[in-house]
Amino acid sequence: MRLFIAINLSDAMKGSLINTQNALYALGVRGNYTSEENLHLTLAFIGEYPNAEPVLDALSSVSFRPFELSLEGMGRFGDLWWAGMRDSVPLTAVVRRIRRTLAESGIPFDRKRFSPHVTLIRKASGEIPGIAPVPVSMTVNTISLMRSDRGKNGMIYTELGSIEAE
Ligand code: 2AM
Repeated sequence: MRLFIAINLSDAMKGSLINTQNALYALGVRGNYTSEENLHLTLAFIGEYPNAEPVLDALSSVSFRPFELSLEGMGRFGDLWWAGMRDSVPLTAVVRRIRRTLAESGIPFDRKRFSPHVTLIRKASGEIPGIAPVPVSMTVNTISLMRSDRGKNGMIYTELGSIEAE
């Protein structure tokens, strides 16, 4: 199964992202828009792994305090367009702790530098117009282990377990 560790976003934050997607669509941008229920912030991408239990065990050893997460701007990796998240000390710190515990547990993960983003559109056409999501903030209390499956109409993400802030 395909696994990743993520923060699922508040309804208010997803609302801001959906408004941005709608505005982009109205401006003529075409591509594969991420559905509302699939909007998330990935902290660590594990990829194919046979068993969720050791990953949940490792994740359970990570402790964190509630922290703020704020939307900030837009950008692209090629034709993948994303909404940015403001980089912050608690966000970077919890990502570092998660990745360290995965490494110590021998669980492989993508070691690319963490670049906090929420994918809005894949295979987007054209140039990003000068708009950005309303910078909504949320408090992070939960970090989730997610499974990703290819469905008939796009990806289906399922939460397999989570850790809660202290
Ligand atoms: P992306 O949206 O930028 O592609 C599930 O695939 C989640 O894991 C997505 O948020 C995806 O980010 C992220 N991810 C990070 N590294 C990945 C990789 N090497 N392959 C696929 N998805 C990856």
